[in-house]
Amino acid sequence: MATASAPAKLILCGEHAVVYRRPAIAVPLGDLRARAEVAPGEPGAGLRLLAPDLGVAWAAADEPDHPLVELALSAAARLGLAGADLTVTLGSAIPVASGMGSGAAIGTALVRALAAHAGAALPPDAVAELVYASERRFHGTPSGIDNTVVAHERAVWFVRAPEPGAAPTIEPLAVGAPLTLVVGDTGVRSETRLPVGAVREAWQARPDEYETLFDAVGDLATRARFALAAGELAVLGHLLDANQTLLERMGVSSPELERLVAAARAAGALGAKLSGAGWGGVMLALVTDETRGAVEEALRAAGATRVLAATVAATV
Ligand code: MEV
Repeated sequence: MATASAPAKLILCGEHAVVYRRPAIAVPLGDLRARAEVAPGEPGAGLRLLAPDLGVAWAAADEPDHPLVELALSAAARLGLAGADLTVTLGSAIPVASGMGSGAAIGTALVRALAAHAGAALPPDAVAELVYASERRFHGTPSGIDNTVVAHERAVWFVRAPEPGAAPTIEPLAVGAPLTLVVGDTGVRSETRLPVGAVREAWQARPDEYETLFDAVGDLATRARFALAAGELAVLGHLLDANQTLLERMGVSSPELERLVAAARAAGALGAKLSGAGWGGVMLALVTDETRGAVEEALRAAGATRVLAATVAATV
Protein backbone atom coordinates (compact mmCIF):
# COMPACT_ATOMS: atom_id res chain seq x y z
CA MET A 1 0.00 0.00 0.00
CA ALA A 2 1.37 3.45 -0.96
CA THR A 3 0.29 6.60 0.84
CA ALA A 4 0.98 10.29 0.28
CA SER A 5 -0.35 13.66 1.38
CA ALA A 6 -0.30 17.30 0.28
CA PRO A 7 -0.82 20.57 2.15
CA ALA A 8 -3.47 23.26 2.01
CA LYS A 9 -2.34 26.68 0.80
CA LEU A 10 -2.92 30.34 1.50
CA ILE A 11 -2.50 33.20 -0.93
CA LEU A 12 -0.69 35.94 0.97
CA CYS A 13 -1.33 38.53 -1.70
CA GLY A 14 -2.17 38.84 -5.38
CA GLU A 15 -5.20 36.57 -5.87
CA HIS A 16 -7.36 37.29 -8.94
CA ALA A 17 -4.77 39.68 -10.45
CA VAL A 18 -2.56 36.57 -10.77
CA VAL A 19 -5.04 35.16 -13.30
CA TYR A 20 -4.18 38.25 -15.41
CA ARG A 21 -0.43 37.59 -15.14
CA ARG A 22 0.41 39.86 -12.23
CA PRO A 23 2.70 38.35 -9.57
CA ALA A 24 1.34 36.75 -6.40
CA ILE A 25 2.70 35.16 -3.24
CA ALA A 26 1.42 31.91 -1.76
CA VAL A 27 2.46 29.78 1.21
CA PRO A 28 1.72 26.14 2.08
CA LEU A 29 -0.21 25.22 5.24
CA GLY A 30 1.71 22.10 6.19
CA ASP A 31 -0.48 21.05 9.14
CA LEU A 32 -3.70 20.89 7.15
CA ARG A 33 -3.49 18.10 4.55
CA ALA A 34 -5.26 15.94 1.99
CA ARG A 35 -4.28 12.26 1.85
CA ALA A 36 -4.37 9.45 -0.71
CA GLU A 37 -3.73 5.74 -0.40
CA VAL A 38 -3.23 3.35 -3.33
CA ALA A 39 -3.83 -0.38 -2.96
CA PRO A 40 -4.07 -3.20 -5.51
CA GLY A 41 -7.73 -3.58 -6.63
CA GLU A 42 -9.83 -6.61 -7.59
CA PRO A 43 -8.53 -8.20 -10.81
CA GLY A 44 -10.42 -6.66 -13.72
CA ALA A 45 -11.86 -3.81 -11.64
CA GLY A 46 -9.62 -1.18 -13.26
CA LEU A 47 -8.99 2.07 -11.45
CA ARG A 48 -11.41 2.99 -8.64
CA LEU A 49 -11.49 6.14 -6.52
CA LEU A 50 -13.10 6.11 -3.08
CA ALA A 51 -13.78 9.15 -0.90
CA PRO A 52 -15.29 7.61 2.25
CA ASP A 53 -15.64 10.99 4.02
CA LEU A 54 -17.91 12.15 1.21
CA GLY A 55 -19.58 8.77 0.82
CA VAL A 56 -18.65 8.59 -2.88
CA ALA A 57 -16.89 6.09 -5.11
CA TRP A 58 -16.06 6.36 -8.80
CA ALA A 59 -15.07 3.56 -11.16
CA ALA A 60 -12.87 5.09 -13.85
CA ALA A 61 -14.56 3.03 -16.54
CA ASP A 62 -18.00 4.44 -15.59
CA GLU A 63 -17.03 8.07 -15.08
CA PRO A 64 -13.99 8.81 -17.25
CA ASP A 65 -14.93 12.52 -17.42
CA HIS A 66 -14.87 13.16 -13.68
CA PRO A 67 -11.93 15.58 -13.16
CA LEU A 68 -10.33 13.46 -10.42
CA VAL A 69 -10.77 10.29 -12.49
CA GLU A 70 -9.21 12.06 -15.48
CA LEU A 71 -6.32 13.16 -13.28
CA ALA A 72 -5.84 9.63 -11.89
CA LEU A 73 -5.91 8.15 -15.41
CA SER A 74 -3.45 10.66 -16.84
CA ALA A 75 -1.11 10.27 -13.86
CA ALA A 76 -1.36 6.46 -14.11
CA ALA A 77 -0.54 6.60 -17.83
CA ARG A 78 2.45 8.86 -17.15
CA LEU A 79 3.68 6.44 -14.45
CA GLY A 80 3.35 3.25 -16.53
CA LEU A 81 0.25 2.14 -14.57
CA ALA A 82 -2.26 2.38 -17.45
CA GLY A 83 -4.86 -0.37 -17.19
CA ALA A 84 -3.75 -1.41 -13.67
CA ASP A 85 -6.35 -2.59 -11.14
CA LEU A 86 -5.96 -0.03 -8.38
CA THR A 87 -8.10 1.33 -5.55
CA VAL A 88 -7.28 4.90 -4.53
CA THR A 89 -8.77 6.12 -1.25
CA LEU A 90 -8.90 9.89 -0.77
CA GLY A 91 -9.42 11.93 2.39
CA SER A 92 -8.89 15.55 3.35
CA ALA A 93 -8.90 17.75 6.43
CA ILE A 94 -9.12 20.87 4.22
CA PRO A 95 -12.57 22.44 3.98
CA VAL A 96 -13.75 22.48 0.36
CA ALA A 97 -14.49 25.76 -1.43
CA SER A 98 -12.79 27.68 1.37
CA GLY A 99 -9.91 29.34 -0.48
CA MET A 100 -7.37 26.92 0.98
CA GLY A 101 -6.72 24.91 -2.17
CA SER A 102 -8.50 21.69 -1.23
CA GLY A 103 -8.90 20.62 -4.89
CA ALA A 104 -5.20 21.11 -5.66
CA ALA A 105 -4.20 19.33 -2.45
CA ILE A 106 -6.42 16.28 -3.14
CA GLY A 107 -5.13 16.10 -6.71
CA THR A 108 -1.51 16.42 -5.57
CA ALA A 109 -1.91 13.74 -2.88
CA LEU A 110 -3.50 11.47 -5.51
CA VAL A 111 -0.63 11.93 -8.00
CA ARG A 112 2.01 11.54 -5.28
CA ALA A 113 0.42 8.30 -4.01
CA LEU A 114 0.26 6.85 -7.55
CA ALA A 115 3.93 7.79 -8.04
CA ALA A 116 4.83 6.12 -4.72
CA HIS A 117 2.91 3.00 -5.81
CA ALA A 118 4.83 2.97 -9.11
CA GLY A 119 8.11 3.50 -7.24
CA ALA A 120 8.70 6.63 -9.34
CA ALA A 121 10.11 9.96 -8.21
CA LEU A 122 7.98 12.65 -9.86
CA PRO A 123 9.53 16.10 -9.37
CA PRO A 124 7.23 18.88 -8.05
CA ASP A 125 7.02 20.55 -11.48
CA ALA A 126 5.71 17.32 -13.04
CA VAL A 127 3.15 16.86 -10.24
CA ALA A 128 2.06 20.50 -10.56
CA GLU A 129 1.64 20.16 -14.33
CA LEU A 130 -0.62 17.10 -14.04
CA VAL A 131 -2.76 18.78 -11.36
CA TYR A 132 -2.93 22.03 -13.35
CA ALA A 133 -4.49 20.22 -16.28
CA SER A 134 -7.14 18.89 -13.90
CA GLU A 135 -7.70 22.31 -12.24
CA ARG A 136 -8.41 23.74 -15.66
CA ARG A 137 -11.33 21.38 -16.02
CA PHE A 138 -12.66 22.42 -12.60
CA HIS A 139 -12.12 26.17 -12.77
CA GLY A 140 -11.82 27.16 -16.42
CA THR A 141 -9.04 29.74 -16.14
CA PRO A 142 -6.88 28.93 -13.10
CA SER A 143 -3.59 30.80 -12.90
CA GLY A 144 -1.74 27.70 -11.69
CA ILE A 145 -0.68 29.21 -8.37
CA ASP A 146 -2.61 26.69 -6.23
CA ASN A 147 -1.15 23.52 -7.79
CA THR A 148 2.31 25.15 -7.79
CA VAL A 149 2.52 26.09 -4.11
CA VAL A 150 0.95 22.78 -3.07
CA ALA A 151 3.33 20.68 -5.20
CA HIS A 152 6.45 22.66 -4.22
CA GLU A 153 5.34 22.90 -0.60
CA ARG A 154 7.21 26.12 0.05
CA ALA A 155 6.49 29.84 -0.10
CA VAL A 156 6.53 30.92 -3.75
CA TRP A 157 6.57 34.00 -5.92
CA PHE A 158 4.43 33.10 -8.91
CA VAL A 159 3.70 34.67 -12.30
CA ARG A 160 1.41 32.84 -14.68
CA ALA A 161 2.85 31.45 -17.91
CA PRO A 162 2.66 33.94 -20.82
CA GLU A 163 0.78 31.42 -22.98
CA PRO A 164 -0.74 27.95 -22.60
CA GLY A 165 1.96 25.29 -22.57
CA ALA A 166 4.70 27.72 -21.46
CA ALA A 167 6.20 27.49 -17.98
CA PRO A 168 5.10 29.90 -15.23
CA THR A 169 7.66 31.87 -13.24
CA ILE A 170 8.11 30.14 -9.89
CA GLU A 171 10.69 31.53 -7.49
CA PRO A 172 11.34 30.48 -3.91
CA LEU A 173 10.76 33.38 -1.53
CA ALA A 174 13.20 34.73 0.98
CA VAL A 175 11.50 35.19 4.36
CA GLY A 176 13.55 37.46 6.63
CA ALA A 177 11.56 36.94 9.83
CA PRO A 178 9.14 34.13 10.70
CA LEU A 179 5.49 34.98 9.99
CA THR A 180 2.51 33.96 12.03
CA LEU A 181 -0.79 34.03 10.21
CA VAL A 182 -4.15 33.50 11.86
CA VAL A 183 -6.77 32.15 9.49
CA GLY A 184 -10.49 32.71 10.08
CA ASP A 185 -13.09 30.74 8.15
CA THR A 186 -16.37 32.52 7.36
CA GLY A 187 -18.04 29.10 7.04
CA VAL A 188 -19.49 30.34 3.74
CA ARG A 189 -18.53 27.94 0.94
CA SER A 190 -17.92 29.54 -2.43
CA GLU A 191 -16.64 27.74 -5.50
CA THR A 192 -13.52 29.38 -6.94
CA ARG A 193 -14.88 29.54 -10.47
CA LEU A 194 -17.80 31.84 -9.46
CA PRO A 195 -15.91 34.96 -8.28
CA VAL A 196 -13.22 34.23 -10.91
CA GLY A 197 -15.97 34.30 -13.57
CA ALA A 198 -17.48 37.50 -12.13
CA VAL A 199 -14.10 39.25 -12.23
CA ARG A 200 -13.67 38.14 -15.84
CA GLU A 201 -17.07 39.59 -16.79
CA ALA A 202 -16.33 42.85 -14.98
CA TRP A 203 -12.87 43.05 -16.64
CA GLN A 204 -14.45 42.49 -20.05
CA ALA A 205 -17.07 45.20 -19.35
CA ARG A 206 -14.64 47.72 -17.79
CA PRO A 207 -11.12 46.75 -18.93
CA ASP A 208 -9.39 50.02 -17.99
CA GLU A 209 -10.71 49.97 -14.44
CA TYR A 210 -9.78 46.31 -13.88
CA GLU A 211 -6.35 46.56 -15.54
CA THR A 212 -5.60 49.46 -13.16
CA LEU A 213 -6.73 47.36 -10.18
CA PHE A 214 -4.62 44.38 -11.33
CA ASP A 215 -1.58 46.65 -11.79
CA ALA A 216 -2.03 48.01 -8.27
CA VAL A 217 -2.26 44.47 -6.85
CA GLY A 218 0.86 43.39 -8.78
CA ASP A 219 2.73 46.42 -7.45
CA LEU A 220 1.66 45.50 -3.90
CA ALA A 221 2.86 41.92 -4.37
CA THR A 222 6.27 43.22 -5.48
CA ARG A 223 6.50 45.45 -2.41
CA ALA A 224 5.32 42.58 -0.20
CA ARG A 225 8.13 40.41 -1.56
CA PHE A 226 10.73 42.98 -0.46
CA ALA A 227 9.05 43.48 2.92
CA LEU A 228 9.01 39.70 3.46
CA ALA A 229 12.67 39.34 2.57
CA ALA A 230 13.62 42.22 4.89
CA GLY A 231 11.46 40.87 7.74
CA GLU A 232 9.53 44.18 7.79
CA LEU A 233 6.32 42.80 9.21
CA ALA A 234 4.62 46.15 9.88
CA VAL A 235 5.13 47.14 6.22
CA LEU A 236 3.84 43.76 5.10
CA GLY A 237 0.74 44.23 7.29
CA HIS A 238 -0.07 47.57 5.59
CA LEU A 239 0.32 45.95 2.19
CA LEU A 240 -2.12 43.17 3.15
CA ASP A 241 -4.65 45.82 4.25
CA ALA A 242 -4.20 47.66 0.95
CA ASN A 243 -4.67 44.38 -0.98
CA GLN A 244 -7.98 43.85 0.86
CA THR A 245 -9.17 47.30 -0.28
CA LEU A 246 -8.35 46.42 -3.90
CA LEU A 247 -10.12 43.04 -3.60
CA GLU A 248 -13.19 44.86 -2.26
CA ARG A 249 -13.08 47.14 -5.32
CA MET A 250 -12.85 44.08 -7.55
CA GLY A 251 -16.10 42.88 -5.99
CA VAL A 252 -14.86 39.59 -4.49
CA SER A 253 -15.14 40.40 -0.78
CA SER A 254 -18.27 39.79 1.32
CA PRO A 255 -19.84 41.13 4.54
CA GLU A 256 -18.76 37.97 6.41
CA LEU A 257 -15.14 38.36 5.25
CA GLU A 258 -15.12 42.05 6.09
CA ARG A 259 -16.50 41.40 9.58
CA LEU A 260 -13.61 39.02 10.30
CA VAL A 261 -11.02 41.34 8.71
CA ALA A 262 -12.26 44.27 10.84
CA ALA A 263 -12.27 42.14 14.01
CA ALA A 264 -8.68 40.99 13.40
CA ARG A 265 -7.46 44.54 12.81
CA ALA A 266 -9.25 45.86 15.90
CA ALA A 267 -7.61 43.10 17.96
CA GLY A 268 -4.15 44.27 16.91
CA ALA A 269 -3.32 42.34 13.72
CA LEU A 270 -0.61 44.00 11.63
CA GLY A 271 -2.81 43.52 8.58
CA ALA A 272 -5.72 41.38 7.37
CA LYS A 273 -7.36 40.40 4.09
CA LEU A 274 -9.44 37.74 2.44
CA SER A 275 -7.40 34.88 0.99
CA GLY A 276 -8.27 32.88 -2.12
CA ALA A 277 -11.13 33.54 -4.46
CA GLY A 278 -13.41 35.34 -1.97
CA TRP A 279 -17.22 35.69 -1.60
CA GLY A 280 -16.72 33.32 1.34
CA GLY A 281 -13.98 30.99 2.47
CA VAL A 282 -11.19 32.28 4.64
CA MET A 283 -9.37 35.48 5.58
CA LEU A 284 -5.90 35.76 7.05
CA ALA A 285 -4.37 38.11 9.61
CA LEU A 286 -0.68 38.79 10.16
CA VAL A 287 -0.01 38.72 13.90
CA THR A 288 2.82 38.82 16.42
CA ASP A 289 3.28 36.48 19.40
CA GLU A 290 1.72 39.23 21.53
CA THR A 291 -1.42 39.72 19.41
CA ARG A 292 -2.06 36.15 18.23
CA GLY A 293 -4.31 35.11 21.15
CA ALA A 294 -6.40 38.30 21.02
CA VAL A 295 -6.86 38.02 17.25
CA GLU A 296 -7.91 34.37 17.48
CA GLU A 297 -10.44 35.24 20.17
CA ALA A 298 -11.75 38.25 18.24
CA LEU A 299 -12.28 36.11 15.12
CA ARG A 300 -14.26 33.52 17.08
CA ALA A 301 -16.35 36.28 18.68
CA ALA A 302 -17.00 37.76 15.20
CA GLY A 303 -18.42 34.45 13.97
CA ALA A 304 -15.49 32.54 12.45
CA THR A 305 -16.49 28.88 12.20
CA ARG A 306 -12.88 27.79 12.41
CA VAL A 307 -9.72 29.57 13.48
CA LEU A 308 -6.23 28.22 12.93
CA ALA A 309 -2.73 29.58 13.05
CA ALA A 310 0.04 28.89 10.58
CA THR A 311 3.68 29.86 10.69
CA VAL A 312 6.00 30.49 7.80
CA ALA A 313 9.60 29.85 8.84
CA ALA A 314 12.37 32.32 8.01
CA THR A 315 14.54 31.28 5.07
CA VAL A 316 17.61 32.77 3.46
C1 MEV B 1 -7.58 30.92 -6.03
O1 MEV B 1 -6.89 30.27 -4.99
C2 MEV B 1 -6.78 32.08 -6.53
C3 MEV B 1 -7.40 32.87 -7.68
O2 MEV B 1 -6.44 33.89 -8.01
C4 MEV B 1 -7.68 32.00 -8.87
C5 MEV B 1 -6.43 31.50 -9.57
O3 MEV B 1 -5.35 32.02 -9.33
O4 MEV B 1 -6.58 30.58 -10.37
C6 MEV B 1 -8.68 33.57 -7.25
